[in-house]
Amino acid sequence: MKKVGGGKGEIGLSSSGLDSMSQSTTLIRFSFDEIKRATRNFSRDNIIGSGGYGNVYRGLLNDGSQVAMKRFKNCSVAGDASFTHEVEVIASVRHVNLVALRGYCTATTNLEGHQRIIVTDLMENGSLYDHLFGSRGKKLSWPIRQKIALGTARGLAYLHYGAQPSIIHRDIKASNILLDEKFEAKVADFGLAKFNPEGMTHMSTRVAGTMGYVAPEYALYGQLTERSDVFSYGVVLLELLSGRKALETDSDGQPNALTDLAWSLVRDGKSLDVIEDGMPEQGSPEVLEKYVLVAVLCSHPQLYARPTMDQVVKMLETDESVPSVMERPIPFTAGRIDIEKSALSNSGQLCSPTGYQAFTMQSKRLSDPNQKEELKEEEEEEGNSQSGTMSVD
Ligand SMILES: Nc1ncnc2c1ncn2[C@@H]1O[C@H](COP(=O)(O)OP(=O)(O)O)[C@@H](O)[C@H]1O
Ligand SMILES: [Mg+2]
Repeated sequence: MKKVGGGKGEIGLSSSGLDSMSQSTTLIRFSFDEIKRATRNFSRDNIIGSGGYGNVYRGLLNDGSQVAMKRFKNCSVAGDASFTHEVEVIASVRHVNLVALRGYCTATTNLEGHQRIIVTDLMENGSLYDHLFGSRGKKLSWPIRQKIALGTARGLAYLHYGAQPSIIHRDIKASNILLDEKFEAKVADFGLAKFNPEGMTHMSTRVAGTMGYVAPEYALYGQLTERSDVFSYGVVLLELLSGRKALETDSDGQPNALTDLAWSLVRDGKSLDVIEDGMPEQGSPEVLEKYVLVAVLCSHPQLYARPTMDQVVKMLETDESVPSVMERPIPFTAGRIDIEKSALSNSGQLCSPTGYQAFTMQSKRLSDPNQKEELKEEEEEEGNSQSGTMSVD
């Protein structure tokens, strides 16, 4: 393997990409032979994940360390913009809660064509999705869920406020949160991430993301801000707390968003009903309720009702109280009866005719003993196109 300083020419990345990489970053450029050896020629047994861009393989390097290798499919000389972009973003950041880049491989062979591979540290415990919805049998304990919630929040806060320029991830979801051997959360998959040039409060871009996780103002108006990630974070937090998926379909084929369900439970004073049954080492009702409220606040349909990721970290790691959850509109897919009910209702209903009302959580709810306590699209030129497709997990 070959070490490449962040500014040297031959690595096949665009010159703008090279510029944005810190000079101090030392990336390793792997040869295709090294990659083949490490993955035993891309053996099927070594596949640990797959996604929109191709398979991810477990690899064993010569120095004995284990890595993950994301092999981009259908690469061409012209078509490796998504690869270059992902390497640029991931190489520009370093934080304990972001997956770390080890290096990359670009090669062209007669037999296999153009190869583009990103090499990152292997995360022993796979993705959060695997643990919540996959085959990994044991349910995550509450202390581990807390650690994942906080770690993910810190990783995102770093992207938004620590990275220069700041970065909007755009695809926060359970399968993009990886877990190391100690269940430290690592935000991964920077395929859709965007650098957010200073001074821009929002950008108009083609919409990208995953159904169930995309903030409404982004899906509808293309308005992209850090708070789009906050919304997606809120959805992941709800999944982590409830063990339910962001979007489920009922027997009538009607989509049900977890955000709507959680909000209606909170509104009815049943926040703790959001929590998954049978979670080992369950926390105190006060702490559990706090997490539910943070999740509902983050996944609020109104952009400015959501906290920033810095505020989320503070709320989760200190005794800081959670602001009251604002009233919100009824779900987009609400039936006729609910719409009529809401139009007729006064305060305490889903939506009051006079507008939004602050919904304040009363602490007595807690002490009441009867109260049981996933469009990915090819990125176009940054422009004003408002169309796009979303991927379903
Ligand atoms: N470093 C890693 N360690 C362990 N598993 C990984 C790693 N990187 C990716 N994976 C697995 O591969 C899946 C797809 O990787 P990801 O980077 O999200 O690609 P895509 O852009 O195709 O979604 C992840 O959900 C995860 O299960
Ligand atoms: Mg992914």
